[in-house]
Formats: sequence, C-alpha cells, structure tokens
Amino acid sequence: MISILAVDDECSMRDFLSILLTKEGYKVTTAPDAETALNKLDSTDYDLLITDNRMPGMSGLELLAAVKEQRPELPVIMITAFTSPDDAVLAMKNGAFDYISKPFNVDEIKSVIASATRNTNQKTPTDNLSEAFPNIIGTSKEMLRVFDLVKRVAPTPANVLIYGESGTGKELVAQAIHNHSKVATNSFIPITCSAIPEELMESELFGHVKGSFTGAINDKKGLFEEAEGGTAFLDEIGELTPIIQTKLLRVLQEREIKPVGSHRIKQIDVRFIAATNRILEEEISAGRFREDLFYRLAVVPIRLPSLRERKSDVPLLVDYFLKKYSALLGKEVREISSYALQILMNYDFPGNVRELENIIERGVALEGSNIILPENLTLPQNQGTQKHETESSNNKTGFTTITSEEELLDIGLEQVLARIEKQLIRHALVETNNSKMKAAELLKISFRSLRYKVKKYSIDDPSAQ
Ligand SMILES: Nc1ncnc2c1ncn2[C@@H]1O[C@H](COP(=O)(O)OP(=O)(O)OP(=O)(O)O)[C@@H](O)[C@H]1O
Ligand SMILES: [Mg+2]
Repeated sequence: MISILAVDDECSMRDFLSILLTKEGYKVTTAPDAETALNKLDSTDYDLLITDNRMPGMSGLELLAAVKEQRPELPVIMITAFTSPDDAVLAMKNGAFDYISKPFNVDEIKSVIASATRNTNQKTPTDNLSEAFPNIIGTSKEMLRVFDLVKRVAPTPANVLIYGESGTGKELVAQAIHNHSKVATNSFIPITCSAIPEELMESELFGHVKGSFTGAINDKKGLFEEAEGGTAFLDEIGELTPIIQTKLLRVLQEREIKPVGSHRIKQIDVRFIAATNRILEEEISAGRFREDLFYRLAVVPIRLPSLRERKSDVPLLVDYFLKKYSALLGKEVREISSYALQILMNYDFPGNVRELENIIERGVALEGSNIILPENLTLPQNQGTQKHETESSNNKTGFTTITSEEELLDIGLEQVLARIEKQLIRHALVETNNSKMKAAELLKISFRSLRYKVKKYSIDDPSAQ
C-alpha cells in the first residue's frame, strides 16, 4: 500500500486530504506542521509527501529543502495558493515533484498523486530517466538533472523556458516536454520568432480577418489558435520586438487573443514553451526584454548544459550519431578509433551537440572503411589537439603517440603515422595560406622535406578532405 504524509496547519484541510486519499486506496498520515512531519519522516518510510507552503513556523518550501537533503528521492507535492504563483515556481525550482493550487480540483489532485506515486515504484531513477527520452542522449549528471526536470514539469500546465547555447538540444527538449505532457496527442506548433518579419508577426501569431490589411484576402487562423489544446513552442524568444513582447504578455495573462482587424476576442488554451540562446536576465537589464514577460514564460526555467560541461557524454553521442548516419547514408561505419575519440574529447565544441553531429555525419560520409579515423574529423584548425599540447611537453605538435593497440593492429603503425603526418601538413598549409616555406617553418622541417611529403601525400588542396 502506498503511504502518504500530508502536512497542513489547517485541520479541515488535513481531514479533507485524509478522507479523499484514503478513499483512493492510499495509506494517509497527517502532520500539523513541518517539524512534526520531519520527525515522522525520520521514523517511517513514506512514498509521498504533500505539504502546504504557508504554515506557521517552518514553511513548506523549507520542509521541501530539508527533505531534499535527507531523502532526495521522496516526491514532494506542494500545495500553493492560486493567488501566489511565485510559490509554485519556487517549489518546482527547488525540486518539488509538482504543485497543486488551492482551491483544489479533486481530479487534478488525484492525477498528480497518481503520477508522483507511479514514479516511486519505478526501478532505478537513472535508468528510467534516460530511457524515457530515447532521442536525447546523455547520462551525465547534468543531463539527468534535465531529464528529471522535464519529466516533472511535462505533465503540468506550467510554461517552460529552455535556455542554453546554440546546438544544446533546446528544440529536442521542447518536443520531449510536449510528448510527455497531458496534451501530447494535440498539436505542437513551433514558432521561430526571429524568422517572422515584425509587420507580419501579429497576424501570424493571432490571425487576421479578411480585408484587415492589403493582402489579407481571407480570414486566417493564427499560430496560437493552431496550437489550441496543445503546445506553442516560441523559439528564439529573445528576438521578439518590444511591441510583440507586450502583446504576447497580454496573451499569457489573459489567455485570449484578438485576430488583426477583428473585434472578437477568442479564448485560447495553450501551453507555452519558449527557448532562447540569449541570457534573458542580461536582456532585461539592458532594457531589451520585458521582465514581466520573462516571469510569465519562465515559470519553470530549464538550462541545457553546453557539451563542454558534459564531455562524458561525447562517446555515447558519437555512437548514436554513427548509427544514425551509417543508416541514413547506407554505410557501415560502426566505430571511431580511440585516437579520433580522444581528439573529440579534447575539443571545446562551441557549436555543442549540433557541431558534434555534423562532424560525425561528415566523418561517416567521407570514410571508406568501417572506422572513423582522426583524418576524417573536420575540426577547426588545430582544435581538439590543444590539450595534448600542454600535456606532452616533448611533442609540440600536440599529436602524442597515444594510439590504441587495437588501432595499431587494425591499420598498422606506418599508416597511423602517415595519416597523422598528412593531417598535420594539411593543417600547417591551411594555417599559412598554402605557403610551403612558412608551413615548413611551423612544422620545424626543411622546405625540401615538406615539398617531398606534399608530393608523396598528393596534397593539392590542403583544405579539401
Ligand atoms: N542530447 C542530444 N542527443 C541527441 N541529439 C541531440 C542532443 N542535443 C542536440 N541534439 C541534436 O543536435 C541538433 C541541434 O539541436 P537543437 O536544434 O535542439 O538545438 P538548439 O538548442 O535548439 O539550437 P539553436 O539555439 O541553434 O536553435 C539537432 O539535430 C538535435 O537532434
Ligand atoms: Mg533551436
């Protein structure tokens, strides 16, 4: 039997929860304040904690913090007043599983509790988290945190702001939130804010009526109406002009739209997910983004880590993209040499996962054998080898002799060295604008030797692969 601890300072509320949940088949214990709750939590193994926020003494949020320290796996549902949405934001930010607002909707309580306790019965949280998102690759703690947040916020109607550098997977995550939401079967409408010219924005978002402006030959539904009952994904939200920001704020506040040229106001029921690669707090300070709009959008903010911050996920991502592009391009490139992987592990990925994906796609396309070798990696000049450089003082090129045994056995030492040599020469020539003299200097070999090698490796166009 699933056991729930319900904490509320109001006796009537405790009774209400107790009766309702007992009827639903849960074992319910109540506590009148947070301190009592903590004592009970010490001695009994509950599956779920439901707590009011505003209570005399320790608040629900403080209780949540204490529980997250002691029993981080225990799901906590916060009861907040409908009139204080900020409490809900704080609760979600601080790791609550979900929140329910007073006055209660009994069905909502039941479904939130059902999903919170379903979670407690799952196997290991880690397995589940990455399994739940098969197309978002990552098992680093940074990504598990993202998965956890996505999973908890998806079934709620809260607006979500996803932010992070370009190529970190913001669109993937937005889609995942929709797919795990209660409106997953309704539409998911992506709207790239930067792609719509300002003068068309209003009509694109809110629709227009026939004749409202030149070119409005028919009534047209706006994108928000298309998203009715589902999710609107506002991508690149940082690019919205001030006028549209103001109009959007109104939509979020009033949950209604007015098509251009129409006097009729239409109610809409849409969940908003926004994304940006800008730091919106900075945009707010600079007066370019409305603070009130930010808070409406970022009820739950999700930050996506850069690939640099989660290098441990690189091998998994490489495998995933190797499979993907081998299948797409009808090739059999199944592996990456350990040396090539090492180069990637030392690379910074300013373009994040998108850049890694492109590198592997090109590698697969260019490779004739079944293994990706360093020379198939098209990284910007000298990148990925920098770390070696500092680590191995005896080798200024940055290419150390770490070549795995398998790789040697696979293609032989001669060939490995030749490939490295060829790649270095190509890099040097690109760097020096194809001046053999300067390239030789850079490589610390004689001009003649360089000329010989260029011929030997037939490097006609050093920037070509
Ligand atoms: N964790 C991941 N696992 C697998 N593929 C990923 C992951 N993250 C990103 N990708 C892939 O990388 C590419 C870029 O991702 P996406 O378009 O979601 O990035 P973005 O954050 O929206 O970037 P931008 O700010 O430039 O729009 C996509 O092809 C996506 O499928
Ligand atoms: Mg994007």
